[in-house]
Amino acid sequence: MGVLAENLAILGLQWGDEGKGKLVDLLSGRFRNVVRFQGGNNAGHTVVVDGVSIALHQVPSGALHEGCFLGVGSGVVLNLEVFLQELDRLAKRGFDLSGRLLISDKAHIILPHHIALDKWREGGLNKIGTTGRGIGPAYEMKAARMGVRMGDLLHPDTLRERISHGHAEVAQLLGPGAGLASVEDTARDLLAIAQPLLPLIGDIQDHLWSAWRRGESILFEGAQATLLDIDHGTYPYVTSSNCSIGGLFTGTGLPPKALSHVLGVAKAYTTRVGAGPMPSELLDATGDRIRDLGREFGTTTGRPRRCGWFDAVITGHACRVNGVDGLGLMKLDVLDGFDQVGLVVGYRDGEGRVGTRIPSCIQDWNDLKPEIKYFKGWSTPTRGIQDPARLPAEARAYLDALTESVDTPIAYLSTGPDRVEGYVEPGSFLANLL
Ligand code: GDP
Ligand code: IMO
Ligand code: MG
Repeated sequence: MGVLAENLAILGLQWGDEGKGKLVDLLSGRFRNVVRFQGGNNAGHTVVVDGVSIALHQVPSGALHEGCFLGVGSGVVLNLEVFLQELDRLAKRGFDLSGRLLISDKAHIILPHHIALDKWREGGLNKIGTTGRGIGPAYEMKAARMGVRMGDLLHPDTLRERISHGHAEVAQLLGPGAGLASVEDTARDLLAIAQPLLPLIGDIQDHLWSAWRRGESILFEGAQATLLDIDHGTYPYVTSSNCSIGGLFTGTGLPPKALSHVLGVAKAYTTRVGAGPMPSELLDATGDRIRDLGREFGTTTGRPRRCGWFDAVITGHACRVNGVDGLGLMKLDVLDGFDQVGLVVGYRDGEGRVGTRIPSCIQDWNDLKPEIKYFKGWSTPTRGIQDPARLPAEARAYLDALTESVDTPIAYLSTGPDRVEGYVEPGSFLANLL
């Protein structure tokens, strides 16, 4: 396969777990560099090859392609222990990343007291159903200028001091009963764990800039999704990074001109894990059926995902925020065999008005009810379809309405978890790009 010279972003358009990992894996054979730019091990990206499933949390999903250089950008927060475990698991499966992995010296480190603080908060009234991986506190410390960066590991003499500021604040808040390790032990343990990663620390901005100028292609791998974005999502029920398009630039240091195309990823229905508004949620047997058929249990925490019909209000919002060129529409096969399939085309407020915009304030979500349009289901399975001509007419009608409702065409249709299940839509931007 030839390598592309144009750069592509793959971004989630709902509340995460749309199938970004599958698409990054599928397309990364055509890119020289694959880079993660935000998030941490709250992400769980599943790649399925020949029936074998591999879950990636912090390592970019281009790992399975030998010719792919992998980058971890400055906007990422890293749990080093988990990162090493992931490298180890990949090595055991025959994927050697040596010589093709670079971690930004500006990426922040998730420390044990960040995890303790995350869990402590989740035990209180402000519980938002986080993954409990310390993501929020790691980003808080970054913003408060008390974070510890990968580059600090190269200055062991000052590491203890870098850790001490944030550590002192968390220790004061949680009290002696929390059993936090001392600053000395934290610094010592961190340095010991980090040893194998030290040679991988470098200037990813410089690497990507040079690659771009040489005409090497870059695939930007988003984690989480627009509705979990700290600015453009359902705040405060969001993660702590900018998972939509803006985070790509701050999280790599590349300018907007370095991005050519945006592939937005959405399921043919909606899921959410954790608390927060979800007007499309089906708290009935239909929701249970989608969960069972779609195996909607979190890759990272194993929690059951909340399920509902495709929500054009949130996904349309995400398409606009990110300037999506085309949809990667995933898991159509999960809707096989339903008598009817719903599409949320608007929200009805307490006064009976129907709108297609999402509220900014959490209080304004409470009264919203989904306005659902129903479509006839299809009895011929779509699972594994690789040719648009084989799509049942009812599925085509549903997809036409869906793309119209978000004003964005389909670029890739996914009909199963494996690399080979699905097709690039003829005539789409992706077909022209590949
Ligand atoms: P990500 O976080 O966006 O990468 O998504 P996850 O990996 O957390 O969740 C998506 C799940 O759906 C994974 O288990 C994938 O293997 C699976 N998957 C992806 N595409 C399809 C599809 O078209 N059909 C089915 N049935 N499963 C899919
Ligand atoms: P991928 O990349 C789905 C959710 C959590 C919680 C909220 C905040 O696999 O799509 P955090 O631990 O980030 O502070 O939790 O965000 N969340 C995700 N949900 N997929 C993800 O990642 C997620 N990452 C975080 O469930 O509601
Ligand atoms: Mg996931």
